[in-house]
Amino acid sequence: MPSLAPHIASVPASGIRRVFEIAARLEDVAMLVIGEPDVPVPHHVAEAARQAWSDDLTNYTPNGGIPALRQAIVEKLARENDVHVDVERVWVTVGATQALHQTMGLLLGAGDEVLVPDPGYTTFSMNARMLDAVPVTYTLSPRRAFRPDLAELERLVGPRTRAIIVNSPSNPLGTVWPREVLQEVLDFAARHDLWVISDEVYEYFTYGTPHVSIASLDVDDRVFSVFSLSKTYAMTGVRVGYLVTPPGLSDTMRTVQEAAISCVAEPDQHAALAAITGDHGPVSEAREHYRTNLRLATRLLDERGIGYLDPEGAFYLWIDVSHASQGDVAGWAEALLLEHRVAVAPGSAFGRAGEGWIRICLAAAPEVLTRGLGALPAPGDVTAPPPRASVVSSD
Ligand SMILES: Cc1ncc(COP(=O)(O)O)c(C=O)c1O
Repeated sequence: MPSLAPHIASVPASGIRRVFEIAARLEDVAMLVIGEPDVPVPHHVAEAARQAWSDDLTNYTPNGGIPALRQAIVEKLARENDVHVDVERVWVTVGATQALHQTMGLLLGAGDEVLVPDPGYTTFSMNARMLDAVPVTYTLSPRRAFRPDLAELERLVGPRTRAIIVNSPSNPLGTVWPREVLQEVLDFAARHDLWVISDEVYEYFTYGTPHVSIASLDVDDRVFSVFSLSKTYAMTGVRVGYLVTPPGLSDTMRTVQEAAISCVAEPDQHAALAAITGDHGPVSEAREHYRTNLRLATRLLDERGIGYLDPEGAFYLWIDVSHASQGDVAGWAEALLLEHRVAVAPGSAFGRAGEGWIRICLAAAPEVLTRGLGALPAPGDVTAPPPRASVVSSD
């Protein structure tokens, strides 16, 4: 067999998938590992998709998406994000995933560097590596309220740095960066003439600090904004997101979309149009559901003295298990799964700074949350190290 491109071996495997795959082989697992809504897709969204199939709307569409959907996104951006663009800056994508890959493909050549958050969503680094580019991590540490350290950013930026990725609300942390933090990052990017890639897929799920789109602060056209319908409308498997580019890139975007996907599936675009223009009651209900689960989870953790980061957005809880995990939270999470049938995401899957932490997904039934959190050892309970997970086969 001929060899693969050498840089493909450097694409890091997902530490979340590993737990998920082991969990899938077990029975009766409290699943808190995957970042996916547990509410159904709104009825009118499913109905629009069904109708599109019935009407045989199953053709290629313009590369950027059907005009009605692009227009609806333009109006949503103005209304909700204070971002004012024309339709030629809006590109409907196969989820945020393709929007991220497309953007990095536009901006990064082999050997170029992109600043990515640590802890941060795994795909940021994976995408950079797939392009033979280099993800350089900036730390979000408890000491700085999980916000970027400007002095560290200044140290990390070099002649090959091309872009910085920001993700607010954050996966896995649930932090929401206020306007002044976003402004500082934008000023930093301007000082070094960097692009900004802003991942805003959890924009609708905030619990305190309101979501601000960094593109609304952009005065010199350096922000690419990535949005998704996956989490907002509980349609992760439908695969629709969108990318908002700086001006003047529509010819380039048309070409790269053609090469990558041609277009998003037409029935899915009709579902997306119904989601964006339709009743947002189900989105508010989902937000309330996550917020209620958050209250339940933090109460359970408080009662047992287990530390966590109080999230302001998304639907995750970032929990400190360093008293138990002994410097190997990935192994510890596997042991927890085997011994207690509780699946959580090890923090180290999101970067080095995640060691000693786990991420749980709050989009779960209350009884699953209660059982899962009940299996976590409190600081006072820890006497012996947990069983080693090395007995687990990964195949
Ligand atoms: C921060 C972040 N960005 C992007 C994605 C991918 O979303 P999509 O389903 O739209 O591809 C996820 C999914 O978990 C995410 O957490």
